[in-house]
Amino acid sequence: MNFMFAILFIFMLTGCGSAELNEGENYGNLLNTSGGLTLNQSKHELGWGNADCTICHNLENIHLVNRTGTATNITAVHDRAISEGISGCAACHGNNGVP
Ligand code: HEC
Ligand code: HEC
Repeated sequence: MNFMFAILFIFMLTGCGSAELNEGENYGNLLNTSGGLTLNQSKHELGWGNADCTICHNLENIHLVNRTGTATNITAVHDRAISEGISGCAACHGNNGVP
């Protein structure tokens, strides 16, 4: 493969120049839901009582867009969730019904 094709190929793989941006999981502004960031059974029926968040949530695919209308640094939240893993979720989202 010559050099130009190699460059073109890399742009294709990385989606460079494409308008498709991954905004990840989206449930709107959580601060407008009952309890805000804190989970409760009625708005989290499928996941309630389950400590193993990553069965259903890919940490790379959440905290990509700040929909709170506040000055939240969503990149910092994203990085923190990945570095702390599921033991860190409760600090912001409550214990999810896990004793
Ligand atoms: C069995 C799958 C499953 C597990 C496990 C799970 N979730 Fe969820 N979660 C969902 C689904 C599905 C939604 C979308 C909202 C809905 O339909 O309940 C959701 C939505 C959410 C939301 C947005 C809720 C809102 O206010 O609208 C948060 C925050 C969340 N999950 C955090 C967590 C955390 C933290 C854990 C681990 C303690 C977890 N989830 C475990 C399936 C799961
Ligand atoms: C430092 C606080 C903080 C931590 C720690 C945290 N979150 Fe979040 N989470 C947020 C905020 C802020 C939002 C965005 C709410 C919005 O935009 O309305 C959010 C949104 C979400 C959503 C909804 C989808 C989205 O991307 O907006 C899910 C699902 C979620 N968090 C799961 C988790 C899981 C699982 C963990 C642990 C691995 C975790 N969170 C750790 C603050 C946190």
